[in-house]
Amino acid sequence: MESIFQEVCSTFAFDEIIFPTIEFAGLYERSVGETSDIVQKEMFTLQTTKEALVLRPEGTASVVRSYIQNKLYVSPNENVKVFYKGSMFRKERPQAGRQREFTQLGVEAIGIDNPFVDVEIISLASQYFKQLGLTGIRLEVNSIGCTTCRTDYKEALLMYLRKLDGLCDLCRSRMIGNPLRTLDCKNLSCQTILTDAPVLSDYLCTPCADDYQCVREGLNLLGIPFTENPRLVRGLDYYAKTVFEFVEDSIGAQSTICGGGKYSGLVEELGGPASSGFGFALGVERLLIAMANQGVLPKEAPVLDYYLIWTNEQTRSIQMKIAQNLRVQGYRVEMEFSPKKLKNQLKVALRKGAKYALILGEDELERGIIQVKDLDASTQEEVLIDQFL
Ligand code: HAM
Repeated sequence: MESIFQEVCSTFAFDEIIFPTIEFAGLYERSVGETSDIVQKEMFTLQTTKEALVLRPEGTASVVRSYIQNKLYVSPNENVKVFYKGSMFRKERPQAGRQREFTQLGVEAIGIDNPFVDVEIISLASQYFKQLGLTGIRLEVNSIGCTTCRTDYKEALLMYLRKLDGLCDLCRSRMIGNPLRTLDCKNLSCQTILTDAPVLSDYLCTPCADDYQCVREGLNLLGIPFTENPRLVRGLDYYAKTVFEFVEDSIGAQSTICGGGKYSGLVEELGGPASSGFGFALGVERLLIAMANQGVLPKEAPVLDYYLIWTNEQTRSIQMKIAQNLRVQGYRVEMEFSPKKLKNQLKVALRKGAKYALILGEDELERGIIQVKDLDASTQEEVLIDQFL
């Protein structure tokens, strides 16, 4: 799965970035945001005498930190395009599709503020799911506007929320700090109460509305089906304008496989030049559940090409050299290291599903040949040892 992701990223001209597993806690307070679940309760903190370090809960903050610290910015109007893969850590209650250590594959493009960047990156994720053979995966998009339109909207939403009875405790606590988060409350009764809540699309300023229109047109142009979800807000504070998620319903409660969007103020907030970014991350474990449910998981482990069989120290030494040669040529090769009966070695070769057994006994050695046994066809031919050496 990782190598297919790498290949797809490469066709979009993204390069790999590797960042550390631990970062300063402050990085996440300033990026993911103080009102996010991650900062409020999910970070694994390593408290040293001098500073608080955390096991990274996500990758965007690290990429932006690295972008600034290493001055990766090239020139204006050019994107720095990176992808990453690795473990992330969140102190959540584990359940199917939700681990405390999980694997993300992600991309970030930092530099250009243009809705076609959004389209291109969403199409990268879509392309990846296609290559994996995954179907029935829904793309939901929304625009959460810029700080200007969001301020008006937040006021209207807060006014609306204050008049409501029956919101859950979590929504009540989120209401003041970040009222938008009430919109993606998973509680069914809150969802029902909030049906008539004002929607952000009615409050988008003209540039944000135009931007969102371009994103929708771009997705249509590339034939990427999507639905608009005016409730989609995402749980991290750094987003602006386009946000999106890929959802696969068979997974259950944790049905979001991939999420991302645009961040406008983040680079500046962390001390870099004003630049816009866009990216996403997908959860490999959730993807695996979806692929298993859809029956598209690759079933077979890679095949063993050769299993090398020997009978004494001399033939073992020759087989060790042959193994080395074959591996240099890219074949998957295995052999036994301690003495075993020829028959038993052959059984192991069959059990491991090797394509060929190379048999070198004393008799073969004397004749300068090796028996190449095709284990599928049950045929055998003699080849000169020298050819393998
Ligand atoms: P996120 O929505 O927090 O976004 O995580 C992205 C994906 O990681 C989720 O859709 C899910 O598949 C997976 N994931 C998250 N938490 C868990 C967990 N506890 N167990 C298993 N899988 C999980 C971000 O992390 C942003 N950094 C994405 C982004 C990149 N936005 C812009 N650039």
